Amino acid sequence: MPLTPSAPGASGRLAELRRRHQAAEDGGGPDRRERQHKEGTLSARERIDLLLDEDTFEELDKLVQHRCRDFGMESQVTPGDGFITGYGRIHGRLIYVFAQDFTVFGGSLSETNARKICKVMDLAVKTGAPIIGLNDSGGARIQEGVVSLGGYADIFLRNTLASGVVPQISAIMGPCAGGAVYSPAITDFTFMVAKTSYMFVTGPDVIKTVTHEDVTKEELGGSMTHNSVSGVGHFIATDDGDCVRMIRELLTYLPQNNRDDVPRKATADPIDRADIELDTIVPAESNQPYDIKDVIHRIVDDAEFFEVHEHYARNIVVGFARLDGRSVGIVANQPAFLAGCLDINSSVKAARFVRFCDAFNIPIITFEDVPGFLPGTEQEFGGIIRHGAKLLYAYAEATVPKITVITRKAYGGAYCVMGSKHIRTDINLAWPSAEIAVMGAEGAVNIIFRRELSGAGPEARAAKIAEFNERFASPFIAAEHGYIDDVIEPRDTRKHLIRALRMLENKVDTMPRRKHGNIPL
Ligand code: HXC
Repeated sequence: MPLTPSAPGASGRLAELRRRHQAAEDGGGPDRRERQHKEGTLSARERIDLLLDEDTFEELDKLVQHRCRDFGMESQVTPGDGFITGYGRIHGRLIYVFAQDFTVFGGSLSETNARKICKVMDLAVKTGAPIIGLNDSGGARIQEGVVSLGGYADIFLRNTLASGVVPQISAIMGPCAGGAVYSPAITDFTFMVAKTSYMFVTGPDVIKTVTHEDVTKEELGGSMTHNSVSGVGHFIATDDGDCVRMIRELLTYLPQNNRDDVPRKATADPIDRADIELDTIVPAESNQPYDIKDVIHRIVDDAEFFEVHEHYARNIVVGFARLDGRSVGIVANQPAFLAGCLDINSSVKAARFVRFCDAFNIPIITFEDVPGFLPGTEQEFGGIIRHGAKLLYAYAEATVPKITVITRKAYGGAYCVMGSKHIRTDINLAWPSAEIAVMGAEGAVNIIFRRELSGAGPEARAAKIAEFNERFASPFIAAEHGYIDDVIEPRDTRKHLIRALRMLENKVDTMPRRKHGNIPL
């Protein structure tokens, strides 16, 4: 719709203003909006309305128009140009938001609406508040060419500069393809909506041409692919409404920026609540699994645990909870999956989470039950050495309060990596069931008693294994060295953690002066 100059006079201007506002709100019109509803999705404005506290949205740049004059674009102008940007409140706290309106040129990114996004990102950094992007776009505005690509790069730069300064959250609520995927990838958390969202660098048609593979959009870049296989997505929502509800919940755990304290939520959960079930939660048989999430739920405030990356690398569990009303990040080996071994994916998953917590002053609580790194050529060829090093590096550089509880196994290099005392963990606790050793008894006996046992019967071997277990597979030697600050009764874990967190509340730790470290990427 071409926009005509306004009629002279105040009332003419007012009418024109209203006409432009209405045109911006109409976007691509009722038919296109109806199509979205039929596909089970909400419009960009409906998403923002649901995301924010009621009547708090202040829109910016609603009157911005694209400047493209090629391919008849001059006659297709919509105020706002299909992106809705502005600020509002979630749980009363300031946030910035942008939403791509698929009804206007498929939500494609023009030079001008890239500037709109950059404007709110700059404000978010200056005022120290999270930025949330609701993505639903066909990518670069094809008619605009390189200025649209430049717009993407301007956004990527800001994503990078805002990283670790304000929380950045992406929701993929439709297509997100080509280079456009790299903005969400730089942000801290990516939500995807089941069945209606997809992300890929090159789509099924290009893949067919280049590699002759047949793959559907859903298989290639749907929500489960990215949440369980690639790790690009952190959360799956059932629909748009569920997605914005989850974003609102995530924000309750996060500070506004890297100078802010973590939010507190009042709780009636007693700080010294003992849970006797914890005393027997670890099976007597050392190779029996149990679900570490049961442990987490029993310890944290009101059993509330907001899991991140639930479907990816399930041998490690990460997420947010509260202790004493205060947000904490939880990292926990999961004995119920791959015996809780560390592998490439779990190392990378946990490393990124630890770095997020460290950047935003969120204390890290580690529950450790890890038999070691996963053996095998697949892992070694895939670079478990450098990927495992990421987790080690992330823990070692983290200066937030760090507390580790060893519930059972802490073997080999994994003992060092998972928040050990040696890499600046403040308080290290162990349950009586802890086993802390260089390796498991069988492997150890095979090596150190090889000569002695050659030709000996199974009883002699079993006796050596029992001797090794008795001597090493306990928390007491580590406690004798002070590597473990205390061996605690499992039922009292909550009390010990909260006391330690209170003690660490004013912790200050520093890093050497440098431009930045060189994490093994
Ligand atoms: C301009 C676009 C557009 C785009 C869609 N539209 N994508 N206009 N630039 N990138 C328009 C369509 O022309 C159409 O207009 C309307 O939006 C709806 O699109 P449909 O194709 O009818 O919708 P649908 O069938 O749902 O398909 C959605 C889609 C498809 C899969 C996203 O539109 C598509 O493939 N778009 C192109 C994707 C693409 O290749 N983008 C460039 C990627 S490269 P009308 O008027 O007919 O309704 C890239 C580089 C970024 O983005 C680099 C950053 C560094």
